[in-house]
Amino acid sequence: MNIKENIIKPNSEAGSGRVKQYVLSKGRKVTQITTFCPDIIGPGPAHIYVIEDEALIMVDTGIPTHMAKKIFYYWRNQPIPQKVKDLPDDYSETELITGLKAAGYSLKDIEFIIITHGHPDHYLLGNTIVEKSRARVSSHVMDTDRICNPWAISKSVFEGRPRYEAFGMPLPKSSAYEYHKEAVQESFSLSLTVDYPIAMDGFLSLDGLQSDFIRVKHSPGHSPGSICLGIGSEEDEERILICGDVLLYPITPHPNDLVTYLRTLDNLKQLEKIVLSLPAHGRNIRDFYGRIDFLKKHHRSRLEFTYNACRKPKTPWEIASTPQYFDVFVDPAKFNPMAGNEAFVHIRLLEMAKGLCRSNIAGGVHYFKNTGERFDHVYRRILEIIDDGSSTVL
Ligand SMILES: [Fe+2]
Ligand SMILES: [Fe+2]
Repeated sequence: MNIKENIIKPNSEAGSGRVKQYVLSKGRKVTQITTFCPDIIGPGPAHIYVIEDEALIMVDTGIPTHMAKKIFYYWRNQPIPQKVKDLPDDYSETELITGLKAAGYSLKDIEFIIITHGHPDHYLLGNTIVEKSRARVSSHVMDTDRICNPWAISKSVFEGRPRYEAFGMPLPKSSAYEYHKEAVQESFSLSLTVDYPIAMDGFLSLDGLQSDFIRVKHSPGHSPGSICLGIGSEEDEERILICGDVLLYPITPHPNDLVTYLRTLDNLKQLEKIVLSLPAHGRNIRDFYGRIDFLKKHHRSRLEFTYNACRKPKTPWEIASTPQYFDVFVDPAKFNPMAGNEAFVHIRLLEMAKGLCRSNIAGGVHYFKNTGERFDHVYRRILEIIDDGSSTVL
């Protein structure tokens, strides 16, 4: 890779705070600032990007540290490590401001914020930044309901509970009401107004800005409105892809819709000249095309495992909590929505391909059983569903 890279500031002991810069054509810089977000229980430190275009553009905002503690530990009834407990409430905000300064910017310089998708670790610090910078906010229209809606987090808590019960997942002891009270109190003021919803792929076009450097690529499947940003002008032989949570390394992104996600992987593979993919968490991806292939194989093997596990009727939670099914250890006795959803999206796709059927519902918990045919045959039908761009998901 000929794109110059340089570490301006290393990570602190907390595993975040690093500032790394990439220099593209005409000296335009892309800066990566790493801010606190829990790993193991969460996706790990959140990378925020600053792109020098005609205006200075920030991509994602990270999450306030007190909200990271609430969402990842308290609301999920998980023990919080002392070193995380001790972090000040504004720790990630301070990391962001310090990182901007180290790169030669300040919050006031930011004119636009683009949110890659509507998950809380990507936009919850947005209001704080807007207040201090007067930046205008953009995201894909398909995720604006999550980002703009003050009740989005409390809604997802309410929506999730019966769904997780149907998975057979143990629920936290606190009642739905206690959950709701917490979510409303803590997250209401953190919703973010989206000034410019994005609905089209192509060069970024915002009020007063027509970019010839940043291209939007709608990449749904991790969330309905996930976007990737291709960085590089027409003449650049090497381009960067800022990919949010669509591609991650070493962890694997959790799809909200597996068919759509696998189609997105195929679409991204058609992009040319990508020499580096910059994700929202984890390590930067140097082998972009290889990572896509890995993720496709990874989901094939999770589909196969799920299919074989359902030789006898199984619940989504029994599959999710099988040792080594998920990226990290899943305690069968503990609430873990990410692991439960991961099993369920694989079940859903197998069900669409008529490889699994819902065999029975007992005590509100759903059981799934396979058809007994060879997995290869089921997988062939799955590939047909993915390849058939005209097929829709219902
Ligand atoms: Fe995400
Ligand atoms: Fe994320």
